[in-house]
This record gives sequence, C-alpha cells and structure tokens, in this order.
Amino acid sequence: MPGLRGLFIPGPTNVPDRIRRAMDIPMEDQRAPDLPAFTLPLLEDVKKVFKSRTGQAFLFPSSGTGGWEAALTNTLSPGDKVLAARFGQFSHLWIDMCIRLGLEVDVIDVPWGEGVPVDVFAARLKADRHHKIKAVLVTHNETATGVTSDVGAVRKALDDAQHSALLFADGVSSIASIDFRMEDWHVDIAVSGSQKGFMLPAGLAILCVSPKALAAAASAQSRRCYFDFADMARANKDGYFPYTPPVHMFRGLRASIDLLFEEGLDHVFARHHRLAEGVRKAVAAWGLALCASEPRWQSDTVSAIFLPEGFDSNAFVRHAYKAYGLSLGVGLSKVAGRVFRIGHLGDLNELMVLTALSGVELTLRDQGVPFEAGSGVAAAIEHFHRTQPTRLAEAA
Ligand SMILES: Cc1ncc(COP(=O)(O)O)c(C=O)c1O
Repeated sequence: MPGLRGLFIPGPTNVPDRIRRAMDIPMEDQRAPDLPAFTLPLLEDVKKVFKSRTGQAFLFPSSGTGGWEAALTNTLSPGDKVLAARFGQFSHLWIDMCIRLGLEVDVIDVPWGEGVPVDVFAARLKADRHHKIKAVLVTHNETATGVTSDVGAVRKALDDAQHSALLFADGVSSIASIDFRMEDWHVDIAVSGSQKGFMLPAGLAILCVSPKALAAAASAQSRRCYFDFADMARANKDGYFPYTPPVHMFRGLRASIDLLFEEGLDHVFARHHRLAEGVRKAVAAWGLALCASEPRWQSDTVSAIFLPEGFDSNAFVRHAYKAYGLSLGVGLSKVAGRVFRIGHLGDLNELMVLTALSGVELTLRDQGVPFEAGSGVAAAIEHFHRTQPTRLAEAA
C-alpha cells in the first residue's frame, strides 16, 4: 500500500525518528568500563518520569506483564491477600496473574466503563483491622475501556484507614503520557512498559519501587528468579545488569526521556489531554458513546468507542486496516465486537489525530454507520483551533 500507514492502537505507539536513530548503532559491550556512565544517569532519569525521589528504578527485558510479575513476586508470599478491582481486560489479567501466583484476591467487580471504586476500597481497608490485605492494586489507565482511575484517592483511602498495605499501580498506558506522581501518592511499585508513552518498541518493563517495597522483598516468600529485585539491584549499583541487557533499548530509552524532558512532562500531559479532547469532541459529533461512562473516567491516552447496536467493531477495525492501512484497537473480552479503540498517545500531534479521525469517518461511511460525514473531524478542528498547545501559550 503506498503512503503512510496509520498506527492508532494504544501501543505499540509510533517511534520518533530520533529514538529509532539512537537505537540504530553497532552492538555494544555490555561489560564495557564506560557503560555505567550511561546506565546510572539513565536509571536516575527514569525515576523523574515516574516523579519519584526516593524510589529505585528497574529495567527488565520484558513487556509490561513481566513488570506485574516482578511487583507481585518480589514483595508478596503465597496466600497473601490483595485488594483489586476488575473493570477491563488488563485489570482482569493482573488479577488472574495474582491467582496463578497463589495470592488470595479480594476482587471488586465494577461495570466496564468505570474505574477503581475508591469508596469500596476505603470500606474494605477500614474493615481490615488486622491488616490481612498486603497490597492494593490499581490499574491507573485501563487500556481496554479507556478509563483512568484516581491513584491519589486510593492512597488517601489507605492513609485514612491507617492501613499498611503496599500500593501497586499499573501505569503501562499512563506513565509518560498522563500525570503520575509516585512520590506524592506514595505508590510502592509502579509498572510501565516501553511501547506506549515511552515511544519505544515493546521489550522493556520499566518499574519504580519504593524503599518500603524493597524492604518487603527481604521477607517475601514468592518464588522468583529472573525478576528478582535483589539480583538486579546488586548489579545495577555499579551500572551493570545480572544478565545480558538490551542496551539498544536503553539507548532508545535515553532518547525517549530526552524528548520527554525537552518538551517538559507537564507539556506532554497537556498535549495528551488536548488531543484526547479533540477525539472526544469527534466522538460526540458522530453521535457515538465512549465506553468510559462519565467524564471523570475518560482517559487521555485511549478512547474506547461503542458502535451502534447491530454493527460489529471487529469487522469495522478489519476494514479500516485493509482498506486504508489504519490500525485501530479492537474491543477486548467483554466489549469485543462492540467497541473499537483509538490510541492517542506517544509521539502524536493534531495532524496525526485528524488523520485517525478521518480514517474512522471513512470507515464509518463504508460500514453504513449512520453519522454526518465530516462532523467529527470538524469538531476536532474547532477544538484544536480554539485551544492552544501549552508550549505555544507559554512562549507567547
Ligand atoms: C494497562 C495495561 N497493563 C498491562 C499491559 C500488559 O503489557 P504488555 O502487553 O506490555 O505485557 C497492557 C498492555 O497493553 C496494558 O495496557
């Protein structure tokens, strides 16, 4: 197919040329004497993206799922109780992993389209006087439904209950795109992956771990080997790794973090919000509904959009790909066949969003979905026209 293909899935996201070039280099010696001069500052800068001062960053050759496993197996013991809500495929999979690792999960099922039920969590934590709950899991951004939860409010619920449980956050599709405050929210382990806000290929689990979680690792009985924090920390102290590290990914991560810092994290978050608002204006103009059931849940990195009754979103996504080279996200699990998703995160600007929106409109038209052609693109254009990128507003 001639011309550009449109990658608008919620990860992997588009990799900027600068990152690609940073990785397009000869193989390196992973035991070279000058490697620590590169890796030690890199690990420190990862912490800044998580907004952590006291935590420790870890880079595991893995996808985000390995980050979940690292968090659980390093800090918990079989039979330990954890509290988690299920409201989408990724919160479901993390819970499933807990069960398979022998943890006891107090699962709060929530309608898909909502996020973490903070009141229910607060009540559970208050009632748990003997602190049987050892960890609270929060999927900060549920990629399957386009829902963002309030991690800070969960921290407050823990504090109000004077509860000692660890707080784990899945920030795979939020960190580096949506404001995330590891230190302020006293998150004990935050997990991300390379292929979303970090704008890299898949292949790195990126974690930040609090001193409290590291201390818990000393007594946690879960079996672990490859993802052992202690092995990694021992080697990382001198800037090395306990096994062959993906140094090319680290070179890419360096370029990624440089790009994030050059733009400024707050501008990055504001850009994501503004672009997401453009998408949401378009969805409203099409007369379609978001899976996120209320504005407070709406995600700035991904929108899951219901097709009207009688239309198959799998066929819709297939057609967009085949006819126009446009990759959209399919609906997963409970919402399979009903929603399609637009990923709007990473290396993205207004023109790219408008490309995605016009591709969606073409596909809606081809599939016979009733809507007014041009209405969504026009609504997004109007939004982008009326609002200014914060970096321009500051420069003016
Ligand atoms: C919120 C969330 N958590 C976890 C994962 C799993 O990450 P990975 O596919 O990188 O293993 C994903 C993947 O999309 C995700 O969106």
